[in-house]
Amino acid sequence: MSGGAPTGPVTVADWEALGRAAMRPDAEAYVAGGAADELTLRWNREAFDRCRLTVRVPDETPPLETTVHLLGTTWPTPIFLAPTAYHRAFHPEGERATARGAAAAGVPYCVSSGTTTPLDDVVTAAAGAPLWFQLYLAKDRGKSRELVAMVQDLGVRALCLTVDTPSTGARDRETRAGFALPADVATPYWAHVRDDGDASPNPVSWRDVEWLVQAARVPVCVKGVLDPRDAERAAAMGCGAVMVSNHGARNLDTVPSALEALDRVAQRLGGRIPLTLDGGVRRGTDVLKALALGATAVGIGRPAVWGLAAAGADGVEAVCRIVQREFEMALALSGVRRVSAVSRDVLWS
Ligand code: FNR
Repeated sequence: MSGGAPTGPVTVADWEALGRAAMRPDAEAYVAGGAADELTLRWNREAFDRCRLTVRVPDETPPLETTVHLLGTTWPTPIFLAPTAYHRAFHPEGERATARGAAAAGVPYCVSSGTTTPLDDVVTAAAGAPLWFQLYLAKDRGKSRELVAMVQDLGVRALCLTVDTPSTGARDRETRAGFALPADVATPYWAHVRDDGDASPNPVSWRDVEWLVQAARVPVCVKGVLDPRDAERAAAMGCGAVMVSNHGARNLDTVPSALEALDRVAQRLGGRIPLTLDGGVRRGTDVLKALALGATAVGIGRPAVWGLAAAGADGVEAVCRIVQREFEMALALSGVRRVSAVSRDVLWS
């Protein structure tokens, strides 16, 4: 191999180093940290590392096919941005930059209800690229109804109701670092998703899910499911997808890795409802493994924030493109070539 000039960041890990170095220490701790002893945080990664791939010589060599259909949207690779709050605490252009970067890479962006940019500005920045909106619910249904109507009118294509955060986890790392939003950074929708005086979101029950499925005009996903029994209930209620996730290991420490939970959920659900996974995805091979275990698409959380903090929209785009390119390589190298043909057969068992 030839030498040549050093290049910029090549992997998500390279972007992570740049992003973390660019952030204020308290914000870095907020993003990087998991709950308590961070065991689940480590397991989210270890589950991918332990899972081995195999390669097969294919019968035919059709062109690589990576397109995915989910929630009424078709997009180029089975990768989306999982919702993360407070982007203006990480880069002055905040969620606008995230939306531009995701749109440039052809990646749907799920905007957090902790967005620090009004959704109409995010919609403008996305310039027609698909956006989803992540919801928490206030007990006051009127507030939730108002927010749902507003985001639907702005054209979001799906609502992702986060069901795994009845209270905040033991975020020891961020507590030690004393994380606080900068004084000039506001969250325009926090008041819609919390009751007056509450510091954290409300617990969500199946009654709330049922209500939202009835009230919404766009598909409703439940985000934060780990147990197959909950996935079955979501399917029975007519949800658009189940988002298997442990919230990036930020809530209840010692719950299983997202990949292990996906495996369980997919074995029980048998294709009754589309599944997504997020938690620990850092490589294209991780995407392939999640698809093999039953996901239709995978979300990335922290990596997009690292890209944003290091280089704004360009950083978000670069991170997305790295994962996409690595995924294409993995799909080609495995011999499978088509997303629709990925199965457990790509795993070494
Ligand atoms: C999150 N996550 C999250 N989830 C959610 O439903 N609403 C939110 O506002 C946030 N905010 C948030 C902030 C930050 C800084 C992080 C790191 C995460 C969870 C997120 O959607 C996703 O589940 C995980 O981030 C996925 O894990 P990885 O990719 O970060 O390992």
